[in-house]
Amino acid sequence: MSMYVRKEKQVTLRSMNAQDIEEVREVGQVAWSDLAMHDLGRRFKYPKRSEKIIEAYLAADPDGCIVAEADGKIVGSGFCHTWGKVGWTGPLEVLPMYQDHGVGRKLLGACESQLLERGCTVIGLETMCHLAKNLHFYLSSGYRPGQSTLIMEKVLRHEKDPLDDVREVTIDDIDAGLATVSRLSEKINPQLDYASEAGSILRRRLGNVYVMDEGSGPLGCALLHTYQRGEEATYSSVKALLVDPEAPDPLSVLDRLMARCERTSLEGGKSKLLTRFATADTRMYDQMITRAYVLKGMNLRMLKHGEYDERGRGSITSWAG
Ligand SMILES: CC(C)(COP(=O)(O)OP(=O)(O)OC[C@H]1O[C@@H](n2cnc3c(N)ncnc32)[C@H](O)[C@@H]1OP(=O)(O)O)[C@@H](O)C(=O)NCCC(=O)NCCS
Repeated sequence: MSMYVRKEKQVTLRSMNAQDIEEVREVGQVAWSDLAMHDLGRRFKYPKRSEKIIEAYLAADPDGCIVAEADGKIVGSGFCHTWGKVGWTGPLEVLPMYQDHGVGRKLLGACESQLLERGCTVIGLETMCHLAKNLHFYLSSGYRPGQSTLIMEKVLRHEKDPLDDVREVTIDDIDAGLATVSRLSEKINPQLDYASEAGSILRRRLGNVYVMDEGSGPLGCALLHTYQRGEEATYSSVKALLVDPEAPDPLSVLDRLMARCERTSLEGGKSKLLTRFATADTRMYDQMITRAYVLKGMNLRMLKHGEYDERGRGSITSWAG
């Protein structure tokens, strides 16, 4: 509990609709720019979140996209994501002048209710672990700290990696592709299913989905997002990369799939590839260093409901919106 008595601001929560997208993008931009100013000590105008990404969130789960309104204007927003039985919230944003009046907590509670309604057995999120406010906000909302998530980035350059054993899933073979994504997800954690995320990438043209096959069947898959904050962003991001826990050499599966994502990004005019992954061992970090990735920061995964861990090595998963 805080040491001072604060006044709650009166807000109403409702589901977001397509007409709200621009206002929601502005709220996000203002909230993150304000955070950057306090965090970094200098003015920085954050790019707006991609419209296409918000449209995809809305299409995937309209009731899971929630806005807080005061005096007819949007002052905060929160998004729910359901990957099988794994549910997470993000991004969560409140206009600075409405912060510290309980709006964030209301939005978070509404997101959790939606995720519970969808039958999620795991509910969590990821946040910046160097921000005392965010840690307090989530800890005092019942979230316990879990694994760390490393944020790594690579400046892309032409390389001669072999790419033949990685194939792209196209809209024509979407059913088989999504079945593979589901199978690999389940092997990593029985509650996890990335098929809806992969489906959204393919149907809404947000990026590419790749599968790495060997004679015995798929060893891994990668979900690449080429749309980022601001459609013209110079980077793309590996949203997920799943490696079969029984793969004989999991880190080489990671390596081949990353090489494919890097090539596509470079060919698409991107200069950087960003990725975030929860990790409990340093071998994956070493592998990423070998691929010339640089550490940019660290987030913290936090869990409110259920238990969650991942089998195998080399997979990239992140609950960040
Ligand atoms: C995180 C965020 C959504 C919270 O929204 P909010 O409306 O301010 O949240 P609430 O008012 O419900 O709760 C804030 C809590 O943090 C506390 N707090 C504020 N500043 C703090 C600080 N410097 N250190 C510790 N706690 C702090 C408040 O006292 C309050 O706790 P209390 O209820 O125990 O008194 C909002 O700050 C935001 O938009 N931040 C920028 C974007 C961001 O970081 N999003 C989250 C990404 S995971």
